[in-house]
Amino acid sequence: MSISILDIERLAANYAGRSPEEVISLALKTIDNIAISFSGAEDVLLIDMAVKTNPDVKVFSLDTGRLHPETYRYLDQVRKHYGIQLEIVFPESAAVEALVLEKSLYSFLEDGHKECCGVRKVAPLRRKLATLDGWITGQRRDQSVGTRTDIPVLQDDPSFSTADNKLVKFNPLANWSSAQVWDYIRTNKVPYNELHAKGFTSIGCEPCTRAILPNQHEREGRWWWEDAAAKECGLHSGNTEAVQKAAHYWPW
Ligand code: ADX
Ligand code: SF4
Repeated sequence: MSISILDIERLAANYAGRSPEEVISLALKTIDNIAISFSGAEDVLLIDMAVKTNPDVKVFSLDTGRLHPETYRYLDQVRKHYGIQLEIVFPESAAVEALVLEKSLYSFLEDGHKECCGVRKVAPLRRKLATLDGWITGQRRDQSVGTRTDIPVLQDDPSFSTADNKLVKFNPLANWSSAQVWDYIRTNKVPYNELHAKGFTSIGCEPCTRAILPNQHEREGRWWWEDAAAKECGLHSGNTEAVQKAAHYWPW
């Protein structure tokens, strides 16, 4: 089942102030062929909420090949805890081999994360999304000053919709704060990635994520050698495109 752009706009307005549970329930009831995109971090609460509506909810994670050992262990823990089939999506081996041969395993430290993220995350995500009518993400407005401040609870996907495949993107946690997420995780005894207890707030790939100090913004540990304004890896590039259009701020 798919929904029209008018439906998306109407539902986005109706659900703008609703709870994450209500948005997830709407997503699962409106679109059959939908999946949760799970990063292996605190977005686990999407799974905790979704299985209450649909125990067979589809979940996928992008394995860049560069995740922390803690995250790999955690992905398996989540799979067992919820009894779900967690699909692991890999990048094309030929593309990774070509990048590493030409530019080394750590090229992103020299010329930015976009190329490596493009090969290891964005291309596999594009391939996966081409098989779906909708996806559910854990993006929140409070995660990033500048790039995520305007994300709606649902939208016509600004980056991955195509003429042949209209893709609806749900962001049920858009209005929630980090504190609300962690209240939910503690109250509901949701298993969490052991990296969170080691000072990691936002979790991505091992070479590109580090723990943060008290009072640092939660995404300061991501791609810390780059400008804060560029901290989108391409999974949610529509966010930066919107900011670009509004501010003509970024150089690309
Ligand atoms: S990122 O774009 O900077 O990497 P972030 O870590 O904030 O994203 O996560 C935001 C949301 O993007 C997650 O809640 C999840 O829905 C999706 N996401 C990020 N990384 C992955 C991943 N490796 N696999 C699947 N989904 C992911
Ligand atoms: Fe590559 Fe770092 Fe992006 Fe992971 S986060 S895909 S290692 S640049």
